[in-house]
Amino acid sequence: MSRFANFIARSRLQTRRIFSTHENPFGISGNSKEPSTLKNKAQQIRKGLPKKWPIAGVEHVILVASGKGGVGKSTTAVNLALGIAANEPSKSIGLLDADIYGPSIPRMMNLVGQQPQITQQKLMKPLINFGISCMSMGFLVDEKSPIVWRGLMVMSAIEKLIRQVTWGPLDYLIVDMPPGTGDTQLSISQLIPVSGALIVTTPQDIALLDARKGTEMFRKVDIPVLGIVQNMSVFECPNCHHKTHIFGDDGARNIAKEMNLEVLVNIPLHMSIRETSDMGKPITVSQPQSSQAMAYRDLAECVVNKIPNTKNTVR
Ligand SMILES: Nc1ncnc2c1ncn2[C@@H]1O[C@H](COP(=O)(O)OP(=O)(O)OP(=O)(O)O)[C@@H](O)[C@H]1O
Ligand SMILES: [Mg+2]
Ligand SMILES: [Zn+2]
Repeated sequence: MSRFANFIARSRLQTRRIFSTHENPFGISGNSKEPSTLKNKAQQIRKGLPKKWPIAGVEHVILVASGKGGVGKSTTAVNLALGIAANEPSKSIGLLDADIYGPSIPRMMNLVGQQPQITQQKLMKPLINFGISCMSMGFLVDEKSPIVWRGLMVMSAIEKLIRQVTWGPLDYLIVDMPPGTGDTQLSISQLIPVSGALIVTTPQDIALLDARKGTEMFRKVDIPVLGIVQNMSVFECPNCHHKTHIFGDDGARNIAKEMNLEVLVNIPLHMSIRETSDMGKPITVSQPQSSQAMAYRDLAECVVNKIPNTKNTVR
C-alpha cells in the first residue's frame, strides 16, 4: 500500500471512530461532561461583560439620541437639562457628554478649557455651570487634538465617564449621545438602567430613516423610547415672518405613527438657537422668555411626565 492510501485508510478509521455516536455529532473528542462545560463557558462570557447597575445616587438616566449626525442632539440635550431645571428648580440635573469623538458639551455649556477636580477616592467631580453638573471627554483631552480611539477604547471611556465620576445625588442625568447605533449605545445599555430615550430628527426623509433605525435599536436592548423631537421643523423669516419648512413638512409625525410613538415637540429652526449654543449661552437660560426656550421647557415637562415612577437609585 502506498503511503497516501495508508493515510486515507487510517483517517477513515479515525473518522468512523469519532463520528460513531449521536451525542457527539461534530466528532469533537472529549469527555462526557460536554454540556456542563458549555454552560460554564457561557457563564464565563457573561462574567466578562460589564455588569449593569445604577449610577450611585442617580434616579433617572435619559438618553438623547438619533440615528443621523448633526440633527441637533447636543442642542436638545443641553436645553432639555436646562428646561427641566427651569421648570423644577428643586431638582438636581446632570449632563453626560457620551460623544467621545466629538464632544459638544464643554462649548455649549461654556466650560471649555476647564478640568475636573479629583477626589481622594480618585473620582472626577463634574463641572457645574447654569446649575447643571457636566462631564465630557472634552474636559480630559485638548479640544483640538483628534481622538483616535476605537471600539473597546470608546467603551472603556464611556465606563469611566459613568463610574469614575461623583454624579450623585441627581434626579435626572441627561446623556448626549453620539450619532448612530454603535459601541456607545451598546455600552450604555449594558452598563446602566435607562429610564428612556428621546429620538431627535429633522422632518427630512433621510433623517427619518435613521430615526427609525435608532428606535428599533433601543427597543432591541429594552430601553423605552419616550418619543420624537422634531427639530428644525419650521423656519420663520425674521423680515416678513413667512414660515418655510426647509427640511420638509411634519415628516416626523408619519414615522411616529408607524413606530407607535409620539412627536413630543416641534423645535423651530432659529438663528438664536444656533448662536446661543455656539456662544455657550443656551437659549433656555439666555432668552428664557423666547418661544424657542418655551418649546424646550414644554419638552422638559413632557419628558418628566413620561418617565416611569420607579427610581433606579442606590445610595
Ligand atoms: N433648532 C435649531 N435651530 C437652529 N440651529 C440649530 C437647531 N438645532 C441645532 N442647531 C445647530 O445645528 C448644529 C448641529 O446641532 P448639534 O450639534 O446639536 O447636533 P448633533 O445632532 O448633536 O450633532 P452630532 O451628530 O455631530 O453630535 C449646531 O450648530 C446647532 O447650533
Ligand atoms: Mg452632538
Ligand atoms: Zn422674508
